[in-house]
Amino acid sequence: MENIHPIFDRMESRSDKERLLGQHGIVVWFTGLSGSGKSTLAIALERELSARGILCRILDGDNVRCGINAGLGFTEADRRENIRRVAEVCRLFVDTGIVVLACFVSPTRELRRMAREIVGEQEFREVYVATPLAECERRDVKGLYAKARRGEIRDFTGISAPFEEPEHPALRLDTSGRSVEECVAQMLQALLPQIKSEH
Ligand code: ADX
Repeated sequence: MENIHPIFDRMESRSDKERLLGQHGIVVWFTGLSGSGKSTLAIALERELSARGILCRILDGDNVRCGINAGLGFTEADRRENIRRVAEVCRLFVDTGIVVLACFVSPTRELRRMAREIVGEQEFREVYVATPLAECERRDVKGLYAKARRGEIRDFTGISAPFEEPEHPALRLDTSGRSVEECVAQMLQALLPQIKSEH
């Protein structure tokens, strides 16, 4: 990039930040249908991590689409730009030693592959919130499935746009058969050693 002179090598490093915080920065990437429980699980996990002195940041599709990604819609190209930008933001947090809980439908393997590549293979933990479509639609917390069925929302994931299941997620959680507490306990067991390792 001509005329651009990054200062990465003169700033404090990621390991300096991690030492300061006493934790290891990772991205917990929640993928799943709208209404599957991604945000609910992230909020409950954040509370448990905070109680253990771990600094976290939730990034959520509906939130970032009100701010940094206002103006992006749900075409393939817009979803791609949404995920590209949020993955770059995840990278910034991880480089600050912070644990990111990222909640994005991120419906295709290609989108999640891109996010993993931007974040970094070592830091990326994919959590598939595998609540079945029928259950998401039954809950319909935001009333969006009903609108999508009436044809009032185009490209709605699970109804008129695809969702490709992850092939090898680090964790697979189906919230239809289990409580939030059970899911959070499973996540803590898997993730805590990785966040607190070497500290
Ligand atoms: S993503 O596909 O680009 O990863 P993102 O997670 O940011 O999606 O946003 C999904 C949220 O936007 C859903 O939870 C829902 O509330 C809302 N939404 C509005 N329109 C759509 C749509 N066409 N498809 C999916 N979600 C939609």
